[in-house]
Amino acid sequence: MKIVVAGTGFVGLPHAAVCSEYGHEVYAYDIDTKRIAAYKTAKREEIEKYVNEPGLASIIQENINRSLHFIDDLEPVIEGVDAFFLCLPTPPNRDGSSNLSYYFDAVNHLAKLLAKRADQRRVVIINKSTVPVGTGRQLEEVLKSHNVPNVGIASNPEFLPEGNAVEKSRHPDRVVVGADTEEDFRILRRIYSQFINHVRIAFIETTPETAESIKYVANTLLLTYISFWNGVGGRLAESVSNVRMEDLKRGVTADTRISKWGSFVSNGAGGSCFGKDIQSLIYQLKSRNQSTDLLESVYEINEYQKTYLIDRAAAEAGVKFNNKVVALLGLAFKQRTNDMRDASALKVVESLLGRGVKEIRAYDPMAEEEAKRFFNPEHNHLFERISYHPSAKAALEGSDMLFISTDWEEFRGLSSTIESTVPAPYLIIDGRRMIPDYNELVERGYSYLAVGSPYLNK
Ligand SMILES: NC(=O)c1ccc[n+]([C@@H]2O[C@H](COP(=O)([O-])OP(=O)(O)OC[C@H]3O[C@@H](n4cnc5c(N)ncnc54)[C@H](O)[C@@H]3O)[C@@H](O)[C@H]2O)c1
Repeated sequence: MKIVVAGTGFVGLPHAAVCSEYGHEVYAYDIDTKRIAAYKTAKREEIEKYVNEPGLASIIQENINRSLHFIDDLEPVIEGVDAFFLCLPTPPNRDGSSNLSYYFDAVNHLAKLLAKRADQRRVVIINKSTVPVGTGRQLEEVLKSHNVPNVGIASNPEFLPEGNAVEKSRHPDRVVVGADTEEDFRILRRIYSQFINHVRIAFIETTPETAESIKYVANTLLLTYISFWNGVGGRLAESVSNVRMEDLKRGVTADTRISKWGSFVSNGAGGSCFGKDIQSLIYQLKSRNQSTDLLESVYEINEYQKTYLIDRAAAEAGVKFNNKVVALLGLAFKQRTNDMRDASALKVVESLLGRGVKEIRAYDPMAEEEAKRFFNPEHNHLFERISYHPSAKAALEGSDMLFISTDWEEFRGLSSTIESTVPAPYLIIDGRRMIPDYNELVERGYSYLAVGSPYLNK
C-alpha cells in the first residue's frame, strides 16, 4: 500500500516507521521543515531531538529511502496513494474544547490536492488524532465541498503509551477501525494485515463515531482509575497511621476484576493526552446536555495532585520554601520519554518559584532540552533560578530538600546517594514513592513526605 502519514510527532513518526517495516511504501509528511530535515539525516541524535522513543531511530535507519521517505511537500506524492493517516495535534482551547485548526488546515490542503489528482483509485483518509466524536463526519463534508472523487473516511484512534511507542505499535492490545463501507474496511485490513486474526490482538471494526468514542472513554477511564487511587487509596494511607500503601495496593488488586495497572499513587498524571482528552470529553458531553460531575472531579483531583505535596510540606512539616535550594529529580511527565507536555514538574516548578525558592537544581536523564524550552528565562525571569545537572547526585549537592517528580528507574536506588551527598536533617518529598527503604532513612534523621504516606520524621 502507498501510505502518507501527515504529522510526524509522537504518534505519526512511530506509526510511519512501523508501517514501513511491514513493507508498505510510506511517506511521512510534516509542515515543520526543520523536523523533516532532521529525520532525513537518519542520525539518532537528530531524530531524538523531536521524538525520543526506544527502538525508533533504528527502524528509521533501516528503512529510510527504501520503504520510508520524509517529505515536506505533499504534491509530488499525491498520485496513487491508498491511505492518508492524519496524526495532527488537537490541543485544548481555553474552554476545554479541542482546537481543530491544525487538523482542518491539513485536511483542506489535502482535499485540494486530492481533487486534482489524475489517478482516481479509492483513497481513505484515516484519522489517528484524538478528535471529538463526530469529527469524521466534518472531515467527510470538507472532502465533499472540494469535490474529492472516490474517497472514504475512517477513524483509527491511537492508544500508544509514550516511552513504549514502537513496542505498542508492533504489538498493540487492539486495533480499532471505524469506517462506513466494505471497500474502506478492505483497505484498512490490508494496511493492518499482520493484526488480522491475531490470537492476542483485538481487531475491532465499527462505525467512525464508535471508534472516536472508544478513544475518549478509554483514556478518561484510565485517568479515573489513576485518580481513584490518588484521591481515595492514597488519602487513606496518608491520613491514617499504620496503613501500608504497598500492601493496600496488593490486597485490592489481588482481585482479578481490579486492574493492577494504574494502582499507584503519584503526584498526578501528565502528558499530552489525559488532561486534554478529559477536558474535551467534558465539553462534548456538556454541549449535549449530559452530566459531567464525575469527569470534572477526576480532572480536579488529578490537577490538585500535581502540587499538593508542596501544600502538605508547608502544612504538615512546617516547611518554609522562601530562599531554599530544592533538588528536583525528574522533569518528563513519566519515565522513558523526553515529553514534558502537561508534566507534573511544570506545576511543581511554578509552585516552588511562587513560594520564593532561591534555586531549583534539576536533573532528568532525557528531558533537559525540553525543559529549557518550557522554562525559558526570556518568558519568565524566575526561570533563571533553575539550574540543570548531569546526575541525581550533582542535583542534590548543596540542596536543602529534594522533590522527586518522575518515576525514572534510576531514582529507585537513591537512598545511598542521598546519604552520601546531603546529610540529615534533610527533607525528601517523594511524588512517586521511589524510595522503598524510606523507613531506614527516617531512622537516620531524614524526613520523608510522600504520596500514600503520612509525614514521617524521627
Ligand atoms: N502523544 C501521545 O502519546 C498520543 C497518544 C494517542 C493519541 N494522541 C493524539 O494524536 C494526535 C497527535 O499527537 P502527537 O503527540 O503526535 O502530536 P505532536 O505535536 O507530537 O505532533 C504533531 C505533528 O503534526 C505536525 N503538523 C501540524 N500541522 C500540520 C499540517 N498542517 N500538516 C502536516 N503536519 C502538521 C507538527 O509539525 C508535528 O510534527 C493528537 O490528537 C493526540 O491527542 C497522542
